[in-house]
Amino acid sequence: MVSAMAVSGLGFGQKAIYKDAGAPVQQRVRDLISRMTLDEKVGQLNQVNGGVLTGPAVANDPGQQGKVKLLKEGKVGSFLNVVGAAQTKEVQRIAVEESRLGIPVLFGFDIIHGAKTIFPIPLAEASAWDTEGALKAAEIAAKEASSMGLHWTFAPMMDVSRDPRWGRVMEGSGEDPYLQAQLAAARVKGFQGNFDENHVLATIKHFAIYGASEAGREYNTVDVSRYAAWNYYLPPYKAAVEAGAATVMNSFNLFEGEPASGNNYLVNEVLRGKWGFKGMVVSDWASFGEMMAHGYAANETEAAIMALKAGSDMDMESGVMRNTLAQSVKDGKVSEALLDAAVARVLELKFKLGLFDNPYKYHDEAKEKASLLTAENLAAARKAAANSMTLLKNSDNILPLKSPKSILVLGHLAESQNDVLDFWKGLGDHKNTVTVLEGLKAKYPGATITFVKGVNRDGKLEAGAEAQIKAAAKKADVIVATIGLYGDLAGEARSLGNPEPSKGQMDMLAAAKLTNKPLVVLVQAGRPMIITELMTKYNTILYTWIGGTQHGNAVADILNGDVNPSSKTAMSFPVSVGQIPVYYNHYNSGRPHKDGNEGPGDFWVSRYRDTPNEPLIPFGYGLSYSKFEYSDLNISKPEINQNESVTVSVKVKNSSNVDGTEIVQLYIRDLVAQPVRPVKELKDFKRVVIKAGETATVTFELPATKLSFYDADGNTLLQKGDFKIMVGPNSRDLSEVKLVLK
Ligand code: NOJ
Repeated sequence: MVSAMAVSGLGFGQKAIYKDAGAPVQQRVRDLISRMTLDEKVGQLNQVNGGVLTGPAVANDPGQQGKVKLLKEGKVGSFLNVVGAAQTKEVQRIAVEESRLGIPVLFGFDIIHGAKTIFPIPLAEASAWDTEGALKAAEIAAKEASSMGLHWTFAPMMDVSRDPRWGRVMEGSGEDPYLQAQLAAARVKGFQGNFDENHVLATIKHFAIYGASEAGREYNTVDVSRYAAWNYYLPPYKAAVEAGAATVMNSFNLFEGEPASGNNYLVNEVLRGKWGFKGMVVSDWASFGEMMAHGYAANETEAAIMALKAGSDMDMESGVMRNTLAQSVKDGKVSEALLDAAVARVLELKFKLGLFDNPYKYHDEAKEKASLLTAENLAAARKAAANSMTLLKNSDNILPLKSPKSILVLGHLAESQNDVLDFWKGLGDHKNTVTVLEGLKAKYPGATITFVKGVNRDGKLEAGAEAQIKAAAKKADVIVATIGLYGDLAGEARSLGNPEPSKGQMDMLAAAKLTNKPLVVLVQAGRPMIITELMTKYNTILYTWIGGTQHGNAVADILNGDVNPSSKTAMSFPVSVGQIPVYYNHYNSGRPHKDGNEGPGDFWVSRYRDTPNEPLIPFGYGLSYSKFEYSDLNISKPEINQNESVTVSVKVKNSSNVDGTEIVQLYIRDLVAQPVRPVKELKDFKRVVIKAGETATVTFELPATKLSFYDADGNTLLQKGDFKIMVGPNSRDLSEVKLVLK
């Protein structure tokens, strides 16, 4: 028998380096690229949709047969929306066994807040201010997703936004860069783990500043300064890069008049240059091609070149790279070296995931079956949902409802399995969800629970609803009414000009109020709604957001007090649409106004004549069944230098007779700076469990570096002078001490 060594020495049957699991990844990548034709290289940058549409149908779609053909020719680097262990396995088989070089494909999908077990929407999860919880939720989502053949999720989304008209606020973590950054990093870690077959690659999206779309209208223009970009919008993406996210997705919008997909400053200079990101950048759905609609690229050839030159790599769905890039290289319009660098970034991921060595490791049907909707996953989703629901009012102390004998439940949303999910429900199935009605029935098995629809899905009052409510209320101890927006009104392409409860919903509540029975209002929505009238007229309000698979159980856990609410909203709630954008970390004007200061001397100031300046509900606000009292805010020293840190402490007393969790928030204000700084900036927070009657001393280590900010070029500035250090239960009700930075 001839030894393998001898054969390889002769050059016969020599194993290609790229197939050698023992060779270093970079060497394998180089070897493989050296064997690829131009078309095969461009193929690696081509991502096509193989399932449900999560964007508009594209003119370039090659059709199912066309896609299989492309796959066999080695011209598909990745599929999105192909899912399921069996289905992905078959596609992978074609790629690996029927294409010339056998390069495996990457399977990507939008796993935003769960794969099969759906967690609360990210904005709700953000309201729990719980990085460990967010990490755990991402880990569970990754485990389910990877068992379904997926390698890669297009999440987490970390677009800071101040506009609840924008439907995608549900996908992010609200208006604050610090909270958003903490959660983005946690989610990246949860999704990716150690890059094994129980995890999925994460995507930083949408790069960048998509959340600032004008007037909250989807896909609209973004026009913010670099100073604002660096300080308000870029920090979460940066934190996610530092957390090791493998991929980044371009956003649809312009930045400085240039589409993000072809934006050299954003991708090459900031992401790859300043932050040293080495991974792969994928377009958003057809966004390379959309550079033509923006009026930036004249044709597909230009669009593909612009994307590549700007540092973007993979073309999701537009086909402009597939159609033109090989020819552009042949024509000398773009260098092959640039193409190779992009291809290398795609291949590197595939090697790192071990797909060349075991292409089928993510496609095990038995594992898939065992991984989905497990009791452990459902319990985690229930806990996450209950931690995310925000108690806005409990002025009559109706809650918790310990042992009602009869409950009247109102509103379509209470019985809807669909609406506790949303547009980004992953593979979630409404059949697996728990509604409010079901949750209450399970929680209070001895109680009579009656349901009157009252309003239908579109929020219109049902015929005869008022009389039905009156009659049913006679036998009820308490009424639980659901209002809000149906689930499909949260997510992409779901901007709303006026996110208010409908007239029918308000009429239903009015009918319920007339009965004089205790009334609990549940507001279910994927964004802060305009609830000014509701907050004025009703005394018990739980903002449930959209809770996912376990929504109804989580509501019931809070209503009966098994869970003491602790959530605090991650977005300000506007008083009216006219106030938008309203956010806590704004600058002072040269003529500042404070609500309540109205008077003769308060005319030529920055204010509305018909509306307050302050939001209805401030960022960071939420109640508990416990009562927390803050006192004794202290700092360990009044002055620090730039290398020091200061300890900030505060006492928080739980003066009630129920154990509770309080989210203690620390803000700063840099009083004089060039450029100017916001009136408040969140710099730290802690979730603290405080037993009934006990007092906790909560401490924060505040290093001087946290007093820094960015200039318009992204350089860090740390300016000497006076700072306010503020601590409290939300962004409005704060105590303060002075700190000097020497
Ligand atoms: C468009 C969305 O903007 C993006 O977030 C998503 O990942 C892709 N479609 C794929 O579905």
